[in-house]
Amino acid sequence: MELARIKESVEYVKGILNDEPEIGIILGSGLGVLAEEVEDKVIIKYADIPNMPTSTVKGHAGQYVFGKLNGKKVIMMQGRFHYYEGNKMETLSLPVYIMKNLGVKNLIVTNAAGGVNTEFKPGDLMLINDHINFAFNNPLMGKNEEEIGPRFPDMSEAYSKDLIKLAKDVASKLDVDVKEGVYLMMTGPTYETPAEIRMVRALGGDAVGMSTVPEVIAANHCGLKVLGISCITNMAAGILDQPLNHAEVIETSNRVKNTFIKLVKEIVKSM
Ligand code: HPA
Repeated sequence: MELARIKESVEYVKGILNDEPEIGIILGSGLGVLAEEVEDKVIIKYADIPNMPTSTVKGHAGQYVFGKLNGKKVIMMQGRFHYYEGNKMETLSLPVYIMKNLGVKNLIVTNAAGGVNTEFKPGDLMLINDHINFAFNNPLMGKNEEEIGPRFPDMSEAYSKDLIKLAKDVASKLDVDVKEGVYLMMTGPTYETPAEIRMVRALGGDAVGMSTVPEVIAANHCGLKVLGISCITNMAAGILDQPLNHAEVIETSNRVKNTFIKLVKEIVKSM
């Protein structure tokens, strides 16, 4: 993404915030409620930020929420952008670069995902330890801006081992059961077929979803440390003898939200 356009967006946001967030948090489908926990909120609508697209998905508000969470200065994305909405991949990197430019060091990325690993059950939380980019596109396609990061970013620790350890320690202290695994991104917006899910499993995916990977690529490009958390909202297609729908996704994330909020708040505190 062109540096001049990023700077334009950053300048607008900096003009509203008179403080620097340390932690960025991207909230997935049905997980936007965490933003309600933020104190001394400053809300910035995506629609008011130059160069930002607008989010169109139900269950996704379209705004940054800046403020304090458990004593830490955070900026949350209440609502994210998806490739399947027709956005160019590179557009999905902009909100991440904005957070980086505001001062963010650690990024927590959350999503709703289908469980591919048959040991999982709906309602489980999975720490993402790696991903597979099955979108066959990349937000860094095109000219590289050296000021943001290198042409060929290393992805060998796309999800910070230190942050995974921190999250596991916090989870065990809170007595919250967390799984760990590989997130595979499909473009969507269709859910997968049972044959595709068997393929995902054969390729090493534990969870499948339609987001996260582009943002995590951008985050690694610009040097942010990433923690990824998937909420397993449903078993992926073909595992149970039942159809999939977005209502179930939202229903499960609603059911898990208290545990999710408790976990993320404590992780933020320990960061
Ligand atoms: N597949 C893809 N994306 C998803 C799913 C799924 O089963 N559940 C929530 N997001």
